Amino acid sequence: MDKLIIDGGYRLKGEVTISGAKNSVLPILAATLLTDEPCIIRAVPNLRDTHTMIKLLHSLGKSVDFDKDTIRITSTHKANYVADYKLVSTMRASFCVLGPLVAKLKQAKVSLPGGCVIGVRPVDLHLKGISALGAKISIEAGYVVAKVDGFLKGKCIYLGGVFGSSVLATANVMMAASLAKGKTIIESAACEPEIVDLAEFLNKMGAHIRGAGTPYIEIEGVKALKGTEHKVIPDRIEAGTFIIASLITQGDILIKNVIAQHQSALLDKLKEAGVNLIVKDNTIRVKSPNKPLKPINVTTLPYPGFPTDMQAQMMALLSVTPGISVITEKVYPDRFMHVPELNRMGAHIQREGPHAIIEGVKRLSGAPVMASDLRASACLVLAGLVAKGRTSVSRIYHLERGYENLDEKLRNLGAKVVKEKE
Ligand code: UD1
Repeated sequence: MDKLIIDGGYRLKGEVTISGAKNSVLPILAATLLTDEPCIIRAVPNLRDTHTMIKLLHSLGKSVDFDKDTIRITSTHKANYVADYKLVSTMRASFCVLGPLVAKLKQAKVSLPGGCVIGVRPVDLHLKGISALGAKISIEAGYVVAKVDGFLKGKCIYLGGVFGSSVLATANVMMAASLAKGKTIIESAACEPEIVDLAEFLNKMGAHIRGAGTPYIEIEGVKALKGTEHKVIPDRIEAGTFIIASLITQGDILIKNVIAQHQSALLDKLKEAGVNLIVKDNTIRVKSPNKPLKPINVTTLPYPGFPTDMQAQMMALLSVTPGISVITEKVYPDRFMHVPELNRMGAHIQREGPHAIIEGVKRLSGAPVMASDLRASACLVLAGLVAKGRTSVSRIYHLERGYENLDEKLRNLGAKVVKEKE
């Protein structure tokens, strides 16, 4: 296992280019199961999660070639409909092969993903949607077994849950409905940009999807889908993480390959804190103001609200922002594993249920800390960049699930970060 050693206190300066979006590429790769024809996906980030999805596609009968940032997928003769526990338990996004498999092969056996460190993550909405399309679903020995006689049939499906919409349930149902007979309407659909990207990919394959990016998606099923080419959108969470990295180190960086419109909630909150970023074409310049930031209150919500995937990174910034800030987590109310680790670095954060009350401190101090999940790891790296002294972040395989070459990109901006064996 590797760890990151960070010597804090260096201002970031220079340019960084954002990679393709993890949360786009994973469902898009799953969608290639809907066709026997070849597909080419470009701007693919080289991540642990990408490799997990490639392994899963292999096991389901696809031949996958990953060269630089391009993936070429072709079909072998032996399509398989069983998604193994080992692959699904390491990455929840694997569960979105359920919709494509049942639509294309009329049956699927997909392992239930199991527990997750950021809290309970049920799949009831996925199952509700797929069964509404006519699949018979049972749970057998930890697997979801779905079968359909003949074709899936279009239906009007309300997909809202206790915590609002679900990104991957929307993806699963949208993919399955693309090959269903008749029209499907998804109400309370997730509006995330990654859903729009997936819909664009499916439409290039010949699907008829309208309304992606709104809570009301219409899908007119087609008989078959064809192969296509697609370039995935930039990763808005990676871009957001670099925005915070610049601010927390009082730096000045230019972020390239970013869609500012996908960052509205983050940019709005930063404006409230006293930061004005310069957006031009597909770049954002993050020049830190000369005075301290103001404390703010942040509530995470489904898109276009403030993303839960930026909550931990924002907490790192607020922990060194003078005054009292409050973060309320409304998507995963238990997603606070980074709080005790930040406190070990000298932060003053108190958790009360879904709220974290943050009293900004003058400085953090470097410490050995442990990453518990992907975004918590990013938060600890950000804290390490500003902390006095040395921070070592262990278990960085979490980081490698979702950030492409984070240490190298930070080094290029002047951070003192090295990867070491534990
Ligand atoms: C996706 C993202 C993840 C992000 C999350 C929320 C991918 C690969 N992952 O995960 O990075 O943190 O969106 O923005 O895109 N829920 C249910 N029943 C379900 C499904 C979800 O109650 O069947 C709940 C969840 O527990 C959570 C909320 O709905 O409270 C949102 O989760 P969801 O949007 O489904 O997250 P994912 O799609 O798994």
